[in-house]
Amino acid sequence: MTIIKLGVNIDHIATVRQARKGFEPDPAAAAVIVELAGADSIVCHLREDRRHIQDRDVYVLKETVSTRLNLEMGLADEIIDIALKSKPHQVTLVPEKREELTTEGGLDAVQFKEKLQKIVPVFHQNGIVVSIFVDPERDQIQAAKLVRADMVEIHTGRYANAKNAEDVRVELHKLAEAAMMARNVRLGVAAGHGLNYRNVGPVTKIMEIEELNIGHSIISRAVLTGLERAVREMKEAINRKNY
Ligand code: PXP
Repeated sequence: MTIIKLGVNIDHIATVRQARKGFEPDPAAAAVIVELAGADSIVCHLREDRRHIQDRDVYVLKETVSTRLNLEMGLADEIIDIALKSKPHQVTLVPEKREELTTEGGLDAVQFKEKLQKIVPVFHQNGIVVSIFVDPERDQIQAAKLVRADMVEIHTGRYANAKNAEDVRVELHKLAEAAMMARNVRLGVAAGHGLNYRNVGPVTKIMEIEELNIGHSIISRAVLTGLERAVREMKEAINRKNY
């Protein structure tokens, strides 16, 4: 049985911090705990609107992450500059719209072929592995190969949002086909988006998938499973009385 790696997206640690624009919780502290728990990489998305991860986080994470830092990013020049300066181990190129709540689909690697052909070698010259987040479609996988990406991350959002058993089956089949296509052209294969504790199982049966990137459901669970201890510790702090 092959072991599937887990990349943990810690954006929403920063989302909570940005609610107060203060210092806690710190994504770098979260990354240490995530790594101690066994994660294989740390993922964060530096969005153009800086709604969660800030520029400084990327630099601090690059210094502190001991596994791999996978920086999700759009194709804006300003963000590309930061990636080239901070030199994460890997970038995952994603589409980005300001008004979206989260990344809504794969990057259209066919449409952005020329831009990708220019930028992928620049990342490579800087020692950065390039992954492209794509929908599970043949022409997207082919375009990712054409622009010399090292790997693809297959978008699992439509599978995760499927409303009935038949749609789940259809979407799972698309994921499996896309993973096989990618493997056949020697691209590394990751997958992610919308995966949670209930829907991850069937995806793990797709043999070509080497890594899953998961964020929201892990951070959501952490908030709930950690809440009891957090309240107990505050009660202790209030009642310590020996200040
Ligand atoms: N992979 C990519 C490319 C993403 O954009 C995201 C969301 O930031 C994820 C994985 C993680 O998705 P989720 O937070 O739904 O687990």
